[in-house]
Amino acid sequence: MLQKLLLPTAVALTTAAFALTESPRPVNSAPATAFAPDTVGAYTIAQAERGLTVFKKVCSECHEPQDFTNADFHGEWNGRSLFDLYENVRTTMPDETPGTLTQQQYEDVLAYMLQLNKAPTGASEFRADSASAKAILLKLPVTSASLR
Ligand code: HEC
Repeated sequence: MLQKLLLPTAVALTTAAFALTESPRPVNSAPATAFAPDTVGAYTIAQAERGLTVFKKVCSECHEPQDFTNADFHGEWNGRSLFDLYENVRTTMPDETPGTLTQQQYEDVLAYMLQLNKAPTGASEFRADSASAKAILLKLPVTSASLR
């Protein structure tokens, strides 16, 4: 809650559902808050659409889209990096045959998960080996349900 209160109202309104934050902040930038209020786009719409195809073909056998937007998911991933989530999916999913998709398919399905959470889109696609993949932290709404 505190993090949200630190955000300017306009930003809070547009990013209440989801925000991506760059971390760590450059040395000479504005003073750091718990989560930096600036949002960045980490994937494109086209990439998320390809990710939807991957989801339908592979993941939907066991998952519903809500699995990646519910309170448990938010509680598990809030504050962790895009790369952490990517790497977790790559090394554990699909459940029976982890690691069997291409790198691009894992990147695309990550973009789809970001889109499901209403993360802002940007000019470039999510790439697991980019510096920003580790620098951008997931900022997901944590509800009391996820803190049981
Ligand atoms: C054969 C069934 C199966 C398939 C296919 C599958 N998953 Fe999963 N997935 C599971 C199970 C079971 C869990 C929960 C237990 C676990 O973490 O291993 C899970 C957990 C997850 C989690 C963690 C959720 C959380 O709350 O932290 C993510 C993310 C995930 N899967 C993504 C995917 C993606 C993306 C795909 C498609 C590329 C996929 N899974 C395909 C069975 C599957």
